[in-house]
Amino acid sequence: MKKCAFITGITGQDGSYLAKFLLKKGYKVHGLKRRASLINTQRIDDIYEDNFQSRKKFFLHHGDMTDASSLQSIIEKIKPDEIYNLAAQSHVAVSFEQPEYTANTTALGTLRLLEIIRQTNRKIKFYQAGTSELYGGIYKKKQNEKTPFHPRSPYAIAKLYSHWLTKNYRDAYGIFACNGILFNHESPLRGETFVTKKIVSALVKIKYGMQKKLYLGNIYSRRDWGHAKDYVEAMWLMMQKKKPEDFVISTGKQISVKKFVNLVCDVLKIDIYWNEKNKFPYATDSKNKVIIQTSSKYFRPTEVNTLVGDSKKARKILKWKPKYDLRKLVNEMIDYEIYLHKNVKKKF
Ligand code: NAP
Ligand code: GDD
Repeated sequence: MKKCAFITGITGQDGSYLAKFLLKKGYKVHGLKRRASLINTQRIDDIYEDNFQSRKKFFLHHGDMTDASSLQSIIEKIKPDEIYNLAAQSHVAVSFEQPEYTANTTALGTLRLLEIIRQTNRKIKFYQAGTSELYGGIYKKKQNEKTPFHPRSPYAIAKLYSHWLTKNYRDAYGIFACNGILFNHESPLRGETFVTKKIVSALVKIKYGMQKKLYLGNIYSRRDWGHAKDYVEAMWLMMQKKKPEDFVISTGKQISVKKFVNLVCDVLKIDIYWNEKNKFPYATDSKNKVIIQTSSKYFRPTEVNTLVGDSKKARKILKWKPKYDLRKLVNEMIDYEIYLHKNVKKKF
């Protein structure tokens, strides 16, 4: 019989990649969608459009992570074998502005799902979208499953609650519940306000005369960036093991935001010159025009300066390894951005 999965956060970056991945594996996929005044299914519309057949395998349900009754009625109706909890207020900077909402969605949302599993069917497997942000202020060379946590934002603290809750429901009630501790992962479908997508999108527009300047925050922070497509595969692999366990998923390599900018400029053949003597560094193009300006607006009250993961456990036990390197990821993101603006590009 076909397996049935329920994905919260299906309209997000990872949700869309995971839905496609599971459909290819033959799953029936159900997703949670919140009501919005504008259409918010752009990332999954192609599942309907490109594959008419998948309408029999792919279903969306209105609900919200802050509304237990909607979650309960969906789960009781669809009877999933696996739940992937990807829904969250996932923006670290926004979590400082909306700490209570972040806790309600990102922490208590997990509690709502686990309670439904505990009360209705403890055989449902549960995946929790954990994060490298849990490590926050820990300055170990590389972070793995044994590294202690030191969250530095309301977002990371909400995720810490979900991490420990997932472990607790596993230990206390024997539920197959696992945490993926995923380091940053990007793609052409990444949300516009995360730094990689913001940089690629702006530099493509600057290149074709559609934008003048890109404003950034801390260009010295360093991240371990992988591709979302590789990372959703790891989620599924964790759920197929006999025993539920937690796994770090990462590339093991990090670069700074500034170097990421340089890499994108290199691919786009934009010459840039950094001036880092000011409090707010900036970069000019070959005509001495400022095209990148840092601004306090994008600094966070507490920053996570460096993250780089050690995913040896996943590579050994799950036999997982990333297929994308950073250059391939950047090329794909740039190609997609150019494709998006190709009609506009023709005007210039
Ligand atoms: P994303 O693109 O921001 O997607 C978040 C999803 O959650 C969207 O579908 C969003 O719906 C949904 N959502 C937010 N609040 C909700 C609510 N109250 N009720 C129902 N749905 C709600 O995030 P992502 O990059 O795909 O990440 C997926 C998960 O992995 C998140 O939990 C994130 O915190 C975690 N994570 C991400 C990374 C990464 O680098 N991408 C790394 C580690 C962990 P709308 O479309 O309606 O907004
Ligand atoms: N968003 C953003 N915008 N970040 C900027 C900017 C800017 O203009 N300028 C510099 N940065 C820096 C941030 O301060 C941070 O240090 C780094 O770029 C990455 O920021 P984001 O892309 O917003 O990602 P994040 O690392 O804070 O969080 C993402 O990864 C986590 C996993 O480590 C999100 O996807 C989280 O949901 C996820 O848990």
